[in-house]
Amino acid sequence: SKGSYPTFMLKEIDEQPAVMRRISQAYLTPDDQSIIEKKLLDALTQADRLYFVAAGTSYHASLVGKRLFEKYAEIPAEVAVASEFGYHWPILSARPFFIFLSQSGETADSRQVMIEAKRRGLPTLVMTNVANSTLAREADYVLLLHAGPEIAVASTKAYTAQIAVEAVLAKSLGETRGLEIAQTFDLRRQLAIAATGMEALVSDHDAWARLAQNYLGQRTDAFYLGRGIDYDVSLEAALKLKEISYVHTEGFAAGELKHGTIALIETGVPVIVFITESETAAHTRGNVQEVRARGANVLVIASKVCQEATDQVVLPTLTTELMPLLTGVCGQLLAYFATIQRGLNVDQPRNLAKSVTVE
Ligand code: M6R
Repeated sequence: SKGSYPTFMLKEIDEQPAVMRRISQAYLTPDDQSIIEKKLLDALTQADRLYFVAAGTSYHASLVGKRLFEKYAEIPAEVAVASEFGYHWPILSARPFFIFLSQSGETADSRQVMIEAKRRGLPTLVMTNVANSTLAREADYVLLLHAGPEIAVASTKAYTAQIAVEAVLAKSLGETRGLEIAQTFDLRRQLAIAATGMEALVSDHDAWARLAQNYLGQRTDAFYLGRGIDYDVSLEAALKLKEISYVHTEGFAAGELKHGTIALIETGVPVIVFITESETAAHTRGNVQEVRARGANVLVIASKVCQEATDQVVLPTLTTELMPLLTGVCGQLLAYFATIQRGLNVDQPRNLAKSVTVE
C-alpha cells in the first residue's frame, strides 16, 4: 500500500535510505566483511571476464557495475543491452561469467540470453528484487536486492539497490583475490553516508518541486550530461524523465556535446549537468560555459569536492563509483516533480508495463 503517500513512486524514492541500510545489514558484517556464499565467489574467481546483461534502468545500473568490478576486483567487464546481445553474441573470453540485473526477474530479453548462456554451460548470476521470479529460479546464483516491492513502473529504489549489491560483490571478489583496494574499501561507511545523503535529498520535496519548476517548467526537451560515472547517471536520469513526463530527453557524454548535440542548444533549453568526478570536472565545467553562452537554463548537481559557488545542488562525496546512489536520486526527484507538475499519471505512464515479458 501507498500508506500516506500520493503515489507509489514517491514512496519508493523515499524508501531508499532504508534500503541502503538493509543491504548493509544483509551483506556486510560490522567490520566490513562481506557475506557472500563461497560457491559464488569460487565461481567468480575462475572467471576472466564479466558479462553484464540487462534492460532499461537495470542496464544503467550495470554500467556502474562494470566500473565497480574493474576498480575493486580488477576484472574486465562488458555491459550489454539484453535485446541486442541476444541476437548478436560477441566472441566471448575463455572463462566468461554472466551477471543479469533485473528488478522483476521476468524480463524476456534478459531471459533469452540466460537460456542461451545455460545451453552453453556458462555460469550465471542474477541480481533481482524478486526471489521467486523466473530468472531467480533459472540462474546458478541469486543475490537479492532487498529493496521491497517496487510497484511504480519507473524503477527507482531497485537502481540504487543494484548498485549497492554490485559494490558488495565487487569488494568481496577483490578481497578473495587479495586486492588491497578491496580490503580497504570502507563500504559500510560509504553506504551509511549514502543513506544520510539520500535522507537529506528526500526530506525536502519542496526544493525538488521548485527545481523541476525552474529548470524543466513546461519545456518539451531536456538534456542531461556528465562524464564517466556522471555519464552513466545521465542516461538513467534521462530515461526517468522521458518515461513518466514524456519530455523528449537525451542523456549523453559531456565531451560529445561539441560533436553534435550542441546544435540543439538555444535560449531556455534545460541542461542538467552532473559533476562528481574530480578528474573530469574542469572539462565538464567548460561544457557548462558553452551551453550557458548559448542561453541554456543550466542546473548543476555536483559533489562537495567538485563544488563551485553557483551550483544549485551539492552532494556529500562518496567514492566516485557510488555517486550514482545520490545523483540517481536527484534524477528521480526531478523527473517525479516535473511529471506531477504536468498533471500526468506518475505510477502508470502510457505505453509501459512494469515487467516486459515479451521480446
Ligand atoms: O525488471 P527489470 O529490471 O528487468 O526491467 C528492466 C526494464 O524494463 C526497466 O528497468 C524499465 O526500463 C523501467 N521502466 C525503467 O524505469
